[in-house]
Amino acid sequence: MKEEILQMLKSRQDFVSGQELCEKFRVSRTAVWKVIGQLKNEGYEIEAINRKGYRLIASPDILTESEILSGMTTGVMGRHVYYYDCLGSTNDQARMLAEKGAPDGSLVVAETQNTGKGRMGRTFFSPEGCGVWMSLILKPDIPPVDASMITLIAAMAVQEMMESFGLKSGIKWPNDLVIDRRKTTGILTEMSAGPDVINYIVVGIGINVNMKAFPEDLKDTAISMAMASGQTYHRAEVIRRVMQYFEADYRQFLETGNLSFLKDKYDAALIHLNKEISVHEIRRVWRGISRGINDIGELIVSTDEGDTTVRSGEVSIRGIYGYAE
Ligand code: BTN
Repeated sequence: MKEEILQMLKSRQDFVSGQELCEKFRVSRTAVWKVIGQLKNEGYEIEAINRKGYRLIASPDILTESEILSGMTTGVMGRHVYYYDCLGSTNDQARMLAEKGAPDGSLVVAETQNTGKGRMGRTFFSPEGCGVWMSLILKPDIPPVDASMITLIAAMAVQEMMESFGLKSGIKWPNDLVIDRRKTTGILTEMSAGPDVINYIVVGIGINVNMKAFPEDLKDTAISMAMASGQTYHRAEVIRRVMQYFEADYRQFLETGNLSFLKDKYDAALIHLNKEISVHEIRRVWRGISRGINDIGELIVSTDEGDTTVRSGEVSIRGIYGYAE
């Protein structure tokens, strides 16, 4: 009921009468008053006037289940929220919850992570109060080999979220979001699968949202949305928008089984489209011109010997003029 009351207050500029809330949710005035008290304790500024009712003046920048869910317009994605003040890693927690039966589209969010995981065994800086550290649990009925495409859909969703706030960011294939050659978002996708069937996928997304600065070791390679634009963002709204964009593209992906519908949009966001890149394999580094993705999300690279494709997870790429990795 808390979410619903919050949603109703959010959707009105004006006062909502206590009577209306009681009737709508079939509860007593005391019950409504208690919920309002809880919301105030969480930091919501709510004006209460006799005979007029309640009016929401401001929402705090918190990531509680009710704050994330009030205003969520998706059908499945982010419809179950598991919020924690502090976790080791939202990906690890999401895996545990997925094993225990958490439904498709469940979202695990933490205010801070002690041991946030990056790709290639790296740690991911996840301080309190300024970022979005979240993991989405997916249970798609697709072949395990197709799972890597979901990472590209997630990157696109974050790019579109930023764009919707008027912030231009680019994608470094397959899934880093970059502004001014510095990384603003990292994505780590993990999967539990048998030879032919996926048990679950966890898409971990870390977005640098409101940091004003980074520690010495990251300051040349990391950037936040706030540093790039000079504005601060309401993080629950950031999450809701990522869920909306992700759901729209993910649905199409499940219908078509490939990324042909996404290709043009994705390529347009690539920071290295038609630019020279170096491709880092385990034993060899080579150069080519990146030409965008094919229908299954592989990167097409032109070399003197012709066009070739590289698969995510098997290589990493860098711009030869250097940008975050
Ligand atoms: C990378 O760029 O190396 C990937 C970083 C992924 C970080 C996110 S934060 C939320 C989720 N939980 C984790 O432990 N990692 C991912």
